[in-house]
Amino acid sequence: METDTMKVPVHVSIIMDGNGRWAKERGLERTAGHAEGVESVRACTEAAVECGVKYLSLYAFSEENWGRPQSEIDTLMGLMFKSMIEELSAFADNGIRFMVLGNRSRLSGELNAAIDDCMEKTMENRTLTLIVFLSYSGKWDILQAAKKFAAEMARHPERGEELMALEPSGFDRYLVTSGIPDPDLIIRTSGEMRLSNYLLWQGAYSELLFSDVLWPDFRKREFRAAMETYAKRDRRYGKVK
Ligand code: FPP
Repeated sequence: METDTMKVPVHVSIIMDGNGRWAKERGLERTAGHAEGVESVRACTEAAVECGVKYLSLYAFSEENWGRPQSEIDTLMGLMFKSMIEELSAFADNGIRFMVLGNRSRLSGELNAAIDDCMEKTMENRTLTLIVFLSYSGKWDILQAAKKFAAEMARHPERGEELMALEPSGFDRYLVTSGIPDPDLIIRTSGEMRLSNYLLWQGAYSELLFSDVLWPDFRKREFRAAMETYAKRDRRYGKVK
């Protein structure tokens, strides 16, 4: 791949899908698919660094996923916890800044403490920012942003006129992704073609790429192929070129 001359996306975001089907195809428990999915997280993180991507974000657990069986929720949260502990030194060695974004009030105290620790220890790193969206949904994000804005209005009635002049670019700072560039590319694996309540505001002009590959099989080769597809896209943002 000609990465030197290629148009590289700054922010790649992935809806990791198909772990359960991957496991079922092999006669395994769904949880085995999630464990294998962690290997794909590692592979894609490495590939992102190699390609010069600056932000890689992953939809790991949606607000809706709380409706899954408790045993599966426990497995996913356990995998998150274990991966963070195990990967911390690799993050440090490779200049990776780690972030978790979402409704963290629903996470356990133990997991939140580990997340805080991992975020704090990697906050100066700049080669790649790896964002895990956990207990996240796009509508939840927009709503919490609207509530923050309303609270600011209530606190500062004297600034009412100025605050009401808010533009979309100014609303960004109320979202949990404040300061993070919008995704240039959103990839969804496993052949499903929907956004499932993910980055609804931030993805307004993202290029979408749907791959038939199940997440546990989505490795470096598939990631690089996605970068090549992106490089050929013509982004017009509603304008004429
Ligand atoms: C979708 O497959 C996948 C998930 C809901 C979880 C993704 C989580 C991981 C890969 C593990 C933890 C992540 C990190 C960042 C270490 P599915 O279960 O919906 O699959 P199906 O549609 O085939 O049932």
